[in-house]
Amino acid sequence: MTSAYPNLRLRRTRASAWSRALHRETLLTPADLIWPLFVTDGSGVEEPVASLPGVSRWSVDGIVARAKEAVALGIPCIALFPHTQPGRRSDDGAEALNPDNLMCRATKAIKDACGSDIGVLTDVALDPYTSHGQDGLLDDSGYVVNDDTVAVLVDQALNQANAGADVIAPSDMMDGRVRAIRMALEMNAHPNVQIMAYSAKYASAFYGPFRDAVGSGGLLKGDKKSYQMDPANADEAMREIALDLAEGADSVMVKPGLAYLDVIWRAKQRFEVPVFAYQVSGEYALIEAGAAAGVADRDALLMEKLLAFKRAGCSGVLTYHAAHAARLLNG
Ligand code: PBG
Repeated sequence: MTSAYPNLRLRRTRASAWSRALHRETLLTPADLIWPLFVTDGSGVEEPVASLPGVSRWSVDGIVARAKEAVALGIPCIALFPHTQPGRRSDDGAEALNPDNLMCRATKAIKDACGSDIGVLTDVALDPYTSHGQDGLLDDSGYVVNDDTVAVLVDQALNQANAGADVIAPSDMMDGRVRAIRMALEMNAHPNVQIMAYSAKYASAFYGPFRDAVGSGGLLKGDKKSYQMDPANADEAMREIALDLAEGADSVMVKPGLAYLDVIWRAKQRFEVPVFAYQVSGEYALIEAGAAAGVADRDALLMEKLLAFKRAGCSGVLTYHAAHAARLLNG
């Protein structure tokens, strides 16, 4: 502080719009957004997700249309999640390794249509493919086993990279998976495929609508607390992030978003690497519910929250509001 009242009046620079624009410290643009999309079977299909008002599952043709829309809006990357038919789910999630699964077909179709105009980020974890809804393989007691799961995740990641995925995003929280995936990518001629690690992923109450969207909500028994993090812990998040960076992650993610801004801030200050936030399904649904209940204007609510991620140090945000936010930002 260089001065004191009345020589210093901080309201001076806030007094008019031109001056507020000039002094704005944080900028949110469409290039900060990653748009998560849900893929389903068929063609010409759009299935609204009841718990995510305004979000639909799209068949591959619709996903390609969304990808083109993203390019036109200036959104640099989309994230894909499959709604796997119940008949294709199994205890071991083998559909994740099918080179012709929904994720691979959608990835190829987007890359054919848009090339390098957009990045395709694919999620690595088994929950959209398992009959039990857990992210990995279970032993007889129902515990999610680590090392055998990692072996399958490596094959899943290679399957996605072979289909043309630009960014592999392991969301499973197994120990050691980033190193294993990085080595496999190196050995299989994918040196430029990025890894965005879901490093600090918490066992959260905010994931419910997502589980509806991918069809694992009704299947999941119990919780994911033996692998996802305890919301009480932030030091542990720094250890997770340090490990994933050492293992070969290009960028790291904190998930959910707004309730974990302290973790985002600490990660950015400490590691000086690209940090992304996932504003998850429950956060989206709460904005929509709040707006519907008349708590506040929806657009103002969502833009304030997205800006907060940038201010906390994020390079970008995964948000189901990406297309809408980009339209608002593009005026
Ligand atoms: C699963 C996965 C989840 C999300 C992304 N990948 C859910 C979970 O861990 O149960 C949540 C995304 C959201 O809620 O929007 N590996």
